[in-house]
Amino acid sequence: MDGRGRPRRSGRLVIKYLGSKRALVPALGAMAAATGARTALDLFTGTTRVAQEFKRLGMEVTASDIATYSEALARCYIATDARGVDGEALAEEIARLDALPGTPGYVTRTFCEEARYFQPANGARIDAIRDAIEAGHGGGSPLACADGPGGDPLYPILLTSLMEAADRVDSTTGQQMAYLKQWAPRASNPLRLRVPQLLAGGGRAVRGDARDVARALGPIDLAYLDPPYNQHRYFTNYHVWETLIRWDAPPAYGVARKRADARDPATASAFNRRREMPRALAQVIADVRAEVVMVSYNDESWVGVPGLATSLREAGHEDVAVVGFDSRRYVGARIGIYNPAGERVGRVGRLRNTEYVFVAGPGDRVGAAVAAGRAAGGEIVPEPAV
Ligand SMILES: C[S@@+](CC[C@H](N)C(=O)[O-])C[C@H]1O[C@@H](n2cnc3c(N)ncnc32)[C@H](O)[C@@H]1O
Repeated sequence: MDGRGRPRRSGRLVIKYLGSKRALVPALGAMAAATGARTALDLFTGTTRVAQEFKRLGMEVTASDIATYSEALARCYIATDARGVDGEALAEEIARLDALPGTPGYVTRTFCEEARYFQPANGARIDAIRDAIEAGHGGGSPLACADGPGGDPLYPILLTSLMEAADRVDSTTGQQMAYLKQWAPRASNPLRLRVPQLLAGGGRAVRGDARDVARALGPIDLAYLDPPYNQHRYFTNYHVWETLIRWDAPPAYGVARKRADARDPATASAFNRRREMPRALAQVIADVRAEVVMVSYNDESWVGVPGLATSLREAGHEDVAVVGFDSRRYVGARIGIYNPAGERVGRVGRLRNTEYVFVAGPGDRVGAAVAAGRAAGGEIVPEPAV
């Protein structure tokens, strides 16, 4: 709470996320802005961090992902124009929800008793707050999140506030395939809602498979692609967020209490299958109608650099360049690898890697993006050396 008894504003978006481009955001923003793009698409938007940066820089942004929790974040940070939100009413509603006493329900049972993602007292408050959001702001179907006609504009903002609050008191290394054997110290903190820091300006949130969205969207100035490059499925790694947003109380299985539909092939992504991923990415690159395409790539990927460069050239781009940024690896690699019981297994992997950003498009725009990337600490990478 602030000095006047109102909930604190969120200083920054904090959900922990595998493959999040947190450290690269300023460089990606500078590169995109240097191309002169006025409209942008973030096609695998995840936390929406990159889309938020594009929006902050004045671009009209479409943020898209297959995950329901990502759609909630995109509706909050990208589709919502801060200027159209009644800040007082939002702060009051968040204060009201934050004061609700806990009522044990699905989250408490599944994620605090059968598993240990949250302390039960926080789980009961998550249950109570999520029920109250649904009762007061939901549109009947949780998936019909609220920017359609008649939808409640506060709905995705409140969902985001709750997800971020839950993330601050979870007991994981940032993935939900397992929880820690010993409670993380932060799990003992009381859950506290904050007002998300909304951005001024228009934008769009789209939930869908990147292959369909790329094909369906009209022309845009710039597309940014940050696909998964390995077998780690976001649907299972972030099943708690998926359930918190859908609020569909699914049957759960295993020590991690994953959603039963995680076993359904319909929830799998072509981007997590070694054999399908290169073709799926090439298809997205060919279909997306963007003058400039930027692709995040890391050297642990299933796609080779020459293959990716070829896909970009075959899509008709005049010029293709690669900028490399040295970066610390995801926290899980540093902490170690744990099984679902929280026991340490396996070896800690490499602690540093290089993040690459491909830029493809007209020569002058690619040149401008590369210059901005170098000014932000990147280095031009000769393709064959990657
Ligand atoms: C590397 S993460 C993106 C991280 C994001 N750039 C950020 O900074 O938060 C990859 C994203 O791809 C999404 N994804 C996986 N398969 C997808 C598909 N078939 N279509 C669209 N999105 C997909 C995942 O849900 C995940 O959010």
